[in-house]
Amino acid sequence: IINQSCSMIIFGGTGDLTHRKLIPALYHLMYQEMLPEGFAVISVGRQKKNNEEYREELYQSVLKYSRFPMDKTIWDQLCEKIYYRAFSFDEGDGYESLKADLQQMDQVHHTRGNRLYYLAVSPENFAPIVEKLKEHGVTAKRGCWQRVVIEKPFGQDLASAQQLNNRIGKVFSEQDTYRIDHYLGKEMIQNIMVIRFANTIFEPLWNHQYIDHIQITAAETEGVGSRGGYYEKAGALRDMVQNHLLQLLAITAMEPPGKNEAEAIRDEKVKILKAIHFPKDSIVHQHVALGQYRGYHMEEKVSPQSTTETYVALKLFLDCDRWKGVPFYIRTGKKLQQKTSQVVIQFKQPDKTFYKECESGCNPNLLVIKIQPEEGTLLQFNAKKPGNLQQILPVGMNFCQNCNLENNSPEAYEKLLLDVMDGDASRFTRWDEVENAWRLIDEISSSCEAALVEEYLPGGWGPEGAQQLIERSGHRWWNL
Ligand code: BG6
Repeated sequence: IINQSCSMIIFGGTGDLTHRKLIPALYHLMYQEMLPEGFAVISVGRQKKNNEEYREELYQSVLKYSRFPMDKTIWDQLCEKIYYRAFSFDEGDGYESLKADLQQMDQVHHTRGNRLYYLAVSPENFAPIVEKLKEHGVTAKRGCWQRVVIEKPFGQDLASAQQLNNRIGKVFSEQDTYRIDHYLGKEMIQNIMVIRFANTIFEPLWNHQYIDHIQITAAETEGVGSRGGYYEKAGALRDMVQNHLLQLLAITAMEPPGKNEAEAIRDEKVKILKAIHFPKDSIVHQHVALGQYRGYHMEEKVSPQSTTETYVALKLFLDCDRWKGVPFYIRTGKKLQQKTSQVVIQFKQPDKTFYKECESGCNPNLLVIKIQPEEGTLLQFNAKKPGNLQQILPVGMNFCQNCNLENNSPEAYEKLLLDVMDGDASRFTRWDEVENAWRLIDEISSSCEAALVEEYLPGGWGPEGAQQLIERSGHRWWNL
């Protein structure tokens, strides 16, 4: 029997993530009666305030960000389980009183000694907090589970990620370390495995014999907003590609895992991350396009001389039999025309065709996995246009799972929090995934040092170089 009861300790209790995502996610779980019976939250922050003030602020956030209407009875049930404690993360006394508070939670809220530590803080605080927890014996309870959830970014490059991992590993085992990649909690990303492995019609074609190329897009309309300070050091490559886009690529390309279990899935993803091949120096410009939106220099905490990329497109290949010669194009950028994340699988043309309409190529068969904002799949194939003339048209079978308002898809954080309580790490990244992703990003980033960061206009589809990158191979970006 899975014992989900626990105290959740949120470091960064007054931060944006807690207000926008974590507390609304807990409210949604409470609304659906999915929170364990024994449950309490202790939020830790530096600002001084009492429980009542804190709860009132959370109430306002739930009103603003929840996908469900406010039900005061449900909110009250959750709210009485939430406590606020003000201390600075390096202050030993704070951890001592946290230890006492947690024991009290076990009595009052039946949390059974289990602890879910959620680090919703800036990355420089990850390791110091974990070390303080150990130093003050907060993590010392036997016979109970103790799990730590770490937000991104997990390091800024391979070396810093390794250092961070070593420090965390001295306190929490790999099994108890849950590195968040919120994309893995998104409905349609979970659905990729179902589409591939719960059907017979796709998987036999899922290889270089039938697939021409794959495109993975995560486009945003927003700019960097108030995160300029962080973004200046990250750029699109580290902010989006290292985690979300490489995870998407890995799930799309991996071999079927032997079992639907965390370790088996993660083993297969790691093989893909190791197989990604990025060519060295001379032909780099054919494999990468970088861009920066006009006006980025004016953003808060951004240097006027900044060359940080807010857009990146890559053409990658995988060193493995299944994907021999198949390009994977990935792109992500800010201030683009449309908020959309999707995977497009473009199939090869039929070998021979006796339709003259297709002499210069039929419309390609496409399978589009729409991740957001629309969630669903589109299958495009050719059919005869009704009438006496022989005409061939592309037609689409479109399945939209969130177009119907009643189908209010869960937010990624709901699923992910439940997973941690269940001890299911399949939707979290294991260390060797992070390690191999950083190895690749470091390699790409050093090969691109001299690459041009081209300016692009907000509201379009990114720099001209990204068009050339794909058109050079006779392909085009699909903005479906
Ligand atoms: C975050 C990045 O991980 O993902 C942000 O740091 C980005 O820069 C965000 O805006 C995108 O997430 P989503 O769920 O809106 O696609």
